[in-house]
Amino acid sequence: MRILGIETSCDDTGVAIYDADHGLIVHRLASQVELHREYGGVVPELAARDHIRTLLPLVDNVLSDSANGGRKMDAIAYTAGPGLAGALLVGASVASSLAYGWGVPGLGVHHMEGHLLAPMLEADPPEFPFVALLVSGGHTMLVDVAAPGAYRILGQSVDDAAGEAFDKTAKMLGLSYPGGPAIAKIAVNGMPNRFTFPRPMTNRPGLDFSFSGLKTHTLTTARQQGELDDQTVADIALAFELAVVDTLAIKCQRALKLTGRKRLVIAGGVGANTRLREKLENECLKTGSRVYYPRPELCTDNGAMIAYAGYFRFRLQSSYEEHPGRALQNTGAFDIYPRWSLEDVSTTAQ
Ligand code: KG4
Ligand code: ZN
Repeated sequence: MRILGIETSCDDTGVAIYDADHGLIVHRLASQVELHREYGGVVPELAARDHIRTLLPLVDNVLSDSANGGRKMDAIAYTAGPGLAGALLVGASVASSLAYGWGVPGLGVHHMEGHLLAPMLEADPPEFPFVALLVSGGHTMLVDVAAPGAYRILGQSVDDAAGEAFDKTAKMLGLSYPGGPAIAKIAVNGMPNRFTFPRPMTNRPGLDFSFSGLKTHTLTTARQQGELDDQTVADIALAFELAVVDTLAIKCQRALKLTGRKRLVIAGGVGANTRLREKLENECLKTGSRVYYPRPELCTDNGAMIAYAGYFRFRLQSSYEEHPGRALQNTGAFDIYPRWSLEDVSTTAQ
């Protein structure tokens, strides 16, 4: 079985082909980073227009890749939500039209399920059950994955997502968009211990996160320094990055302890952060658990994870069917879900 995956939920146009027997065949990405850079964040209307411009040529390009060998697709998966409504509509309408035309199922999949399953595309994928830390620009959550498709959210951010905090903090420090990679890059030059920032919500029980206070703390610190020289920006960036990484790591260990799981999956854009990966690896080594994460390009938004999630859902067949529009369909009709909880696609009742 061969599935075409289409991702357009935010500012990346991603297209890929996944094959049940041969794994990931080809994946391509058209990033909109340059388009949004001057605004310091994603402008939804510009994102949607750029997906319209980019998506069909990218689909053509992927299908005609020599690795595909001219094979026809057996299904098309697209991101049905959560995400920006206009951006989602582009992927959903193109995918559903193609599915209708080709007479194959169109599978609307959950973007965060795509992130969560991305490590399955790697050579040594995790077995179930595991705990997943999903950290992206729009979400920060810890999920207990008891079995394929069985999701229980253990905790999530009550305000900003981790990636959002990186992006906003970078903007305050005059760094470029997206903020995560920009902060990580300059933090390498930072002096440890010049600033120490709080680890929010770690001194009380629970698995929720809050990053907006940390963002404000960073802003206050930056203002107190007056004119910011490069070294001070690096020192603040490092203090911020260490605070986010420590906070995420503390909650991950707590979640593993609470659930008794021995595997931790990290996924989503912030999962590309080297310091976070190293910290979690070191800590898991000490506690006898193991960390799994996809290569950096499959941490951030991409079509490969959507193709795989489509395949995964095709095999499970069940849960999305309870929701109109999320079922397997090739009628040309489709729905999008800009707000959509991961627990709603769970195969087992909570
Ligand atoms: O998963 P993603 O590509 O898109 C969403 O679904 O939101 O995540 C994007 C987020 C951005 O906020 C970006 O700043 C952050 O991931 N990010 C990083 C790194 N690379 C991307 N954050 C920290 N360190 C990184 N290396
Ligand atoms: Zn994402």
